[in-house]
Amino acid sequence: MSVLEIRKAGDKVLKEKAAPVAKIDRKIKRLLDDMANTMYEAQGVGLAAPQVGVSLRIIVLDTGDGLIELINPVITAHEGCEAGTEGCLSIPGMYGEVERYAKVTVEGLNREGRRISITGTELLARALQHEIDHLEGVLFIELAKSVHKG
Ligand code: CO
Repeated sequence: MSVLEIRKAGDKVLKEKAAPVAKIDRKIKRLLDDMANTMYEAQGVGLAAPQVGVSLRIIVLDTGDGLIELINPVITAHEGCEAGTEGCLSIPGMYGEVERYAKVTVEGLNREGRRISITGTELLARALQHEIDHLEGVLFIELAKSVHKG
């Protein structure tokens, strides 16, 4: 497993709409491994493939309950609204208040290609929405009501 370079705001790959994964092959599985490794190394709770320079619809997350890998994730249900503080490994040292759905259900594929569904509240709900935004080329600072340092 490798630690990949995390692209920073200003890199154009972060502004692209990522393409769906057509086939989960060995290369995609290696990317999943490297993304998880990179996220843990950076002490992040989530990472999207565009953040490591790959414009594909893949996210990994760990909000404390173990690794979640999602390929082609889609929000299929949501409830409520909640403001909270966010940061991003691509925008080090900056934080902002972002309003998100309080609860979301996300469907996608796992590395075996099986359809899985994840429902989250609080940090998990926020992280899922933040990472899926990366797949649309959206950074949290564009949504934040206010942004501050450290
Ligand atoms: Co981010």
